[in-house]
Amino acid sequence: MESPHGLQASLHLARRMASLEPSATLAMAAKASLMAASGIPVIDLSVGEPDFPTPGHICQAAEAAIRAGKTKYTPAAGIPELRKAVAADYSRRTGLTVTPAQVVVSCGAKHALHNVCVSLLDEGDEVIVPAPYWVSYAELIKLSGAIPVLLETRIEDDFKLRPEALRAALTPRTRMLLLCSPSNPTGVVYSGDELRALADCAIEANLAVVADEIYDQLVFDGRQAVSFPTLRPGLEERTVVVAGVSKTYSMTGWRIGWTISPEPLAKAMGNLQSQETSNPCSVSQHAAVAALTGPQECVAEMCRAFQSRRDLVVRKLTAIPGVRLPQIGGAFYAFFDIRQALARSAAGGGTVLGPTTSAQWCEALLEREHVALVAGSAFGTEGHVRMSFAAAEDKLTEGLARIARFLA
Ligand SMILES: Cc1ncc(COP(=O)(O)O)c(C=O)c1O
Repeated sequence: MESPHGLQASLHLARRMASLEPSATLAMAAKASLMAASGIPVIDLSVGEPDFPTPGHICQAAEAAIRAGKTKYTPAAGIPELRKAVAADYSRRTGLTVTPAQVVVSCGAKHALHNVCVSLLDEGDEVIVPAPYWVSYAELIKLSGAIPVLLETRIEDDFKLRPEALRAALTPRTRMLLLCSPSNPTGVVYSGDELRALADCAIEANLAVVADEIYDQLVFDGRQAVSFPTLRPGLEERTVVVAGVSKTYSMTGWRIGWTISPEPLAKAMGNLQSQETSNPCSVSQHAAVAALTGPQECVAEMCRAFQSRRDLVVRKLTAIPGVRLPQIGGAFYAFFDIRQALARSAAGGGTVLGPTTSAQWCEALLEREHVALVAGSAFGTEGHVRMSFAAAEDKLTEGLARIARFLA
């Protein structure tokens, strides 16, 4: 006898898997690369991955680590040099004093977020997540048995969560607030005052806060991203900062991320990791030490390139009638409003004539113009799509021309 998933009854999936969605961004990227492999000139702007190579000095540190035999198990929470480097780098940039014992190095920031959810959330706890949100948040929260409470924000507010909306969503089961600034998928950066107002709500309601700051160094126009625990004295006692090397140093494949948290939680997450994955890749950890302690000009260079691509993308997108987008202050995403185009399709008779949802719109764009974007619905906000501008300017220019043609 078969279960609904086509598995033998003996292998029927656990309840927690029933509603688990695959990552929409990775699914779109896979589709685009299949098309490209069959010779179709696809422009893939779906995935959040810098197109730059990992800087040479970081690769050399990895090669040296291999040659020196640093290829064995390491302590589960990371090698001491890397925990020390993360703590020193964060302390230097924020003015807070963080110790290596507060740092747990994981297999990417995604894994770090999983550790946090599993370690802090119980069945039925509610976690407030402003939408649009990064695709994995809701799924990671659900996997831990908790409930993601997705709070819609408005493009008129630059998709920022307002403190009154947060207060209105609180229930006796609210346990955690999850924030991402600079944001994936919107590129929006909260100001210190905006974050402080949210911090005050979190303190009043005794919430844990997870601050996903993985894009904190990719900010534009001379901005400085504000790290959440710096906003009020004592906030570090209720905050877990999540970050990593994937985006800042173009090291997505190396799989190194981390948490910075109060020490008892760090200890618990280290224990969890010791049972689940053991250590993150030893060679990658040595590369990450070189990233954090080596020359930082590579970060500034990539950031300058992202800013000039942001300028191009904003100029071209806002020139298309009906397209709106928030103020992009960092990261490498444009999350734009296509509701007018969808409404035109709906008025014209639905899917026969044109797409009426963001997912259908992305499918149609891929089929007709061979440009891969990700539907806003994957980020909890229908009527919009996300474009990554972590791609070379010529690709962006061609992709934007095709998008404009499709929208026309
Ligand atoms: C907001 C956000 N957090 C976390 C991650 C995960 O990063 P990593 O590649 O280090 O797992 C990503 C990657 O896209 C992201 O955009």
